[in-house]
Amino acid sequence: MVHEIALTIKPTMACNMRCKHCFNGTLLKSTKQLDLKSVFRFIDIAVSEFKDIKVTFHGGEPTLAGYDFYKEVFAYEAKLSKKYGVVFSNLFTTNGLLLDDNLIDLLIKYNVLINISFDGPYNDILRQNTKYIISIIEKVQKKGARFRIFCTISAQSFPYLKEIYNWFKNKEWDFKILPIEPRGCAEKNYDLLMDIEKFLDELENLYRIWIVDNDCKIKFYTFQEFAKLRRNIQFKPYWINREIALNPDGLIYPFGRPNDMNFCLGSPFDVEKISECFCNKNYKQLLFNMKEYAKEQCRNCDSFHICRSVCVYMSYVYGDNSESLRYECKMSNGIFNRILKVNDEIIKDVRSGNIGIYNDFIKESFKSFLIKE
Ligand SMILES: C[S@@+](CC[C@H](N)C(=O)[O-])C[C@H]1O[C@@H](n2cnc3c(N)ncnc32)[C@H](O)[C@@H]1O
Repeated sequence: MVHEIALTIKPTMACNMRCKHCFNGTLLKSTKQLDLKSVFRFIDIAVSEFKDIKVTFHGGEPTLAGYDFYKEVFAYEAKLSKKYGVVFSNLFTTNGLLLDDNLIDLLIKYNVLINISFDGPYNDILRQNTKYIISIIEKVQKKGARFRIFCTISAQSFPYLKEIYNWFKNKEWDFKILPIEPRGCAEKNYDLLMDIEKFLDELENLYRIWIVDNDCKIKFYTFQEFAKLRRNIQFKPYWINREIALNPDGLIYPFGRPNDMNFCLGSPFDVEKISECFCNKNYKQLLFNMKEYAKEQCRNCDSFHICRSVCVYMSYVYGDNSESLRYECKMSNGIFNRILKVNDEIIKDVRSGNIGIYNDFIKESFKSFLIKE
C-alpha cells in the first residue's frame, strides 16, 4: 500500500510579477481565489487515505492569498496531524515579493520549506525587483527559515553558470537550477531558449567542478539529484497516481500544470478518497494521451531505460506542442548522457580506491562501489 501523496494547492493564478518566461502564460490573468472550504475538504480526503502528505503551495503567486489564508490552512493541518497521526510536509513556491515578517514567521512556525524563485546575479534577465528580493531572502535567512532558491537558467545566463554557482555559495543559499523550458511566455520569447549542446557543455563542466569541490557547504539540489543517477535505475519511478492538485476554481486536476487543466477530475466534495480521482475517465484519458506521445517520442531514445517516458509525461502536462516536447526530451536525454558519463568515471575511480578526491556528497552517494577488502 502507498502511504504518500503529493498535493499541489494553487490559491490563485494571479501574479504580482511579470516573468518573461512564465509557463503559465495567459493563465495569470485569472483572478479566481480558492476558498478555504475546498482546501479543507481536499486535505480531508487525502488524510482519509494517506499517512505522509506533501503539500506544495504554488500558483500564480501563492502569497497573494494572504496571511490569514495560510494561518487557517496550517492550523487545520496541525489539528489533523494531532488527531490522526498524519505527517504533513509543506513547501511554498514564491517570487518572494510579499514575504513579510508575519508570513515568514508563520512559515517558520510550521516548518515550511520556502522555494524562492530568484536567478542570482542574472535575475534581471527574466524578473524584476532584484535588490528588494535579495533583501527579502537575506531576511528569510537571518530569521532561520528553511528555504532554497529556484534559479531559472536562460540563453543569456547559461554561459555564466560557474559564476552563478559561486554567487550562491558565497551567499550560503541552497539552490536548484531550472533550465528554461519552451512553455507559456517562453514559447514566444525564443531568444531566451538555450542552445542545448552549449548549455550541456557548461552544465557538465560545472558538475565536474562540483564533484570535487570540498568548499561547497550549500545544498546544490540539481547536482545532488544528478549524483544519484545510475544507468540501471529509473530516475523518477513514482509519479503517476502520486500527485494531485487543487486549482483556484476549487476543482481537482491531475498535476496542477497548464495542460492538465483540460482534464478536470471534479470537486473534492464529490469524492471520499483521492484514489477515486485516479480512476476518473479524464485521468485515464490524460494517461492515454501521454502514452501516445511517448510511443512517438521514446522510440529511438537511448535514455528510455532511465526515463521510461517520464520526461514526456512531465512535459505533456505543461503543453501538447510537439516541438516543445521534442526540445524537452532532447534536453533530458542530453543531461542523462552527460551526467551518466561523469558518474561512470566516478564509479571507476571509486573502485580503484580514489574516492578521497570527491566532495562529501559524492563520497556518500558512491560508497557502495568501494571494493571491500
Ligand atoms: C511558475 S512559478 C509559480 C510560483 C511563484 N509565483 C514563483 O514565482 O515562484 C514557479 C517556478 O517555475 C519557474 N518557471 C516558470 N516558467 C518556466 C519555464 N518556462 N521554464 C522553466 N522554469 C519556469 C519559475 O521561474 C518559478 O521558479
